[in-house]
Amino acid sequence: MLIISPSVLASDFSRLGDDVKKVHKAGAEYIHLDVMDGIFVPNISFGPPVISSLRKVTDIVFDVHLMITEPQRYIKDYVDAGADIITIHYESCKDPAEVVKLIKSYGVRAAVSIKPATSPEVLFPMMAELDMVLVMTVEPGFGGQKMIPETIDKVRILREYANANGLDTDIEVDGGITAENLKYATAAGANVIVAGSAIFKADDPAKVISDMMKVGDRYPFGADTQK
Ligand code: DX5
Ligand code: ZN
Repeated sequence: MLIISPSVLASDFSRLGDDVKKVHKAGAEYIHLDVMDGIFVPNISFGPPVISSLRKVTDIVFDVHLMITEPQRYIKDYVDAGADIITIHYESCKDPAEVVKLIKSYGVRAAVSIKPATSPEVLFPMMAELDMVLVMTVEPGFGGQKMIPETIDKVRILREYANANGLDTDIEVDGGITAENLKYATAAGANVIVAGSAIFKADDPAKVISDMMKVGDRYPFGADTQK
């Protein structure tokens, strides 16, 4: 079954705790927390205080996506705030592998993300150390964009590399994912799915989550998406 990680960026921040509890109850195993610093991406969101407040009201897995420059400066703050998984960007620092070590030294799961223009091969040398890779399917910075189809090939390349090397690395996709286009990502090998607008802007978020969870059964890695 796919792991669904709704992105709170599309939720109503005045009722954040309730929104998170609702999607958890509907079957989402993770909640995706997009941290933006206005420098690595041209947008600002929230930081550790919001995450630690949320930690008090839910035990859902916190999937923290750091879109910030030099993330090593703040890893401990996000660990203390309650992160279970911390994703940094390959493009955001000089030595991503060192930051991965730092994250893991706190007993937190580590992931590295690549922007649409970054080739997946850059992750190969550190892949064995990663719990997850995150393939951005839009330019990071804003919710509500359209998925860029060309990014899906990178998911396939990473899944093939993981399989060829006996790694069961999670592959997460993020940006413009809907219940309709999700099959392309799962057939390419993605198993952790971020969706903001498709879930929080829907009339029935619980139905979208349950529909999304099932897509991986019909379209597992290697499936024909023409069906
Ligand atoms: C974009 C963020 C995404 C975004 C996803 O920079 O990393 O997590 O919130 O939102 P949707 O699903 O609306 O594209
Ligand atoms: Zn994200």
